[in-house]
Amino acid sequence: MRLAAQGRLPRLLFDYVDGGAHSETTMRANAGDFAQWRLMPRILRNVQHIDLSTRFMGARHRLPFWFAPVGYLGLLSPRGDIAAGRVACEAGTVMGISTFSIAPLEEIAGAAGQSACQLYMVRDRAITRDILDRAKSAGISDLILTVDTPVTPLRPRDARNGFRAVTRFGARHVLDMVRHPRWLADMARNGPVEAGNIARYDLGKGILEQSARLGREIDPRLVWDDLDWLRGVWSGRIYVKGVLHPGDARACRDHGADGVIVSNHGGRQLDFAPSAISCLPVVREAVGPDCEVLFDSGVRRGTDVVMALALGADAVALGRACAYGLGAFGEAGVARAVDLLREDIASTLALMGLASIDELKAQPRDEIIARI
Ligand code: FNR
Repeated sequence: MRLAAQGRLPRLLFDYVDGGAHSETTMRANAGDFAQWRLMPRILRNVQHIDLSTRFMGARHRLPFWFAPVGYLGLLSPRGDIAAGRVACEAGTVMGISTFSIAPLEEIAGAAGQSACQLYMVRDRAITRDILDRAKSAGISDLILTVDTPVTPLRPRDARNGFRAVTRFGARHVLDMVRHPRWLADMARNGPVEAGNIARYDLGKGILEQSARLGREIDPRLVWDDLDWLRGVWSGRIYVKGVLHPGDARACRDHGADGVIVSNHGGRQLDFAPSAISCLPVVREAVGPDCEVLFDSGVRRGTDVVMALALGADAVALGRACAYGLGAFGEAGVARAVDLLREDIASTLALMGLASIDELKAQPRDEIIARI
C-alpha cells in the first residue's frame, strides 16, 4: 500500500504522510521495536472461528483497531476523509476525525458510525468552544485531546517540498502533480477541493494557508488546568493523545481523562523520543486496569496489533496504514488495508491458539509475550 501510494500521490503529499521529524529515528523505531518482542504459539486448541470484536471507547466494536486522526485525508483522494469514515463504519470501528480534516467534521461524522473528534486547543478559546459545540451537535461523545504538539518540529521532507509554505502553487508543484496523472485526474474529476473543516474560522485563503495559521495558533501554554477546564465543559469521554511517560499517564487519569493514547504521533514530533511500543507496558502498569489505554505509532501488521493488545492496550489506532491505502486506491484502498490487517490478526491469534481478542486480553502477559 505504501509503495502504491508513492506511485499515485504527488511527492508533496506522499512525503507529508510518509515523513517524520528530523532524522526520523523515532519514526523508524516505532515500527522496528516490535521486533524486540516474541509471541508464544500454543497448540491443539480449537481456532476454527476467530472473534476479533472487543470493547473500547464505550462500546463493543467488530475490530480491535480504529482510525487515528490524520489531517488532510481529503487531499490524498477526493473526499478522502469521508471515504475513510465510511470504511470505518462498514468495518464496525471508530473513525478519528482530525482538526485538520478537509471535509467538515459534521460530514465525516455523518458517514462514519461512531467517531471521535480530535482537538488541538488553540489560543483563541472561542474556536475550541465552537469545535466542541459542533462535535456535540454531530452526536460525537468521544474527544481526543492531542497534547504532543505544543510546537511543530522540523520535518525535513516537508521543508524541502515547501509543504507548509504552499499558499500558491509554483512550477515545481504543478510539475509534481502532472507527474502523477492518476491522482490529478481523480481530483480534477471531482472538482476543486471543498473548503476545509477549519475554513469557517477565517484563518486564510487556501486550505494549507488556513492550517499553517491554525498550526501556529496551537496553544503552547497548555497546562493541567486546561485539561481540568476541558473536563468541565465536555460531558463525553476524553482521551489524552501523545502520552509516553507513566507519571503523565497517571496525571491524565487523575485529572478526569477516561483514557490515554500512548503515541509519539508516529514519530512526527520529538525525534529520539522512545518508540511507543516500548512505553506501553509501563503506562498500562501506571494507570491500572480501569483506565482505558489506547495505542498508536508504527502499527503495520497483525502481529503489531496483537503485541500491543498483549502489552495492555484496549485497542490500537492506524495512522499511516489507513492513509497509505487511501493514497494508493482511494476508498477501496482503505477497505483493502482493513481486510489485510483483519486477516493478519486472525491468523496471528490462531497460531497463538487464541480464538478471540477477549481471550488474548485475558491471558497472563508472561504466558503470551516476552522481550528478547
Ligand atoms: C497524523 N497524526 C495526527 N494526530 C492528531 O492528533 N491530529 C492530526 O491532525 C494528525 N495528523 C496526522 C497526519 C499524518 C499524515 C500522519 C501520518 C499522522 C498522528 C496520528 O494520529 C497517529 O498518532 C500516527 O499516525 C500513528 O503512527 P502511524 O500509525 O502513522 O505509524
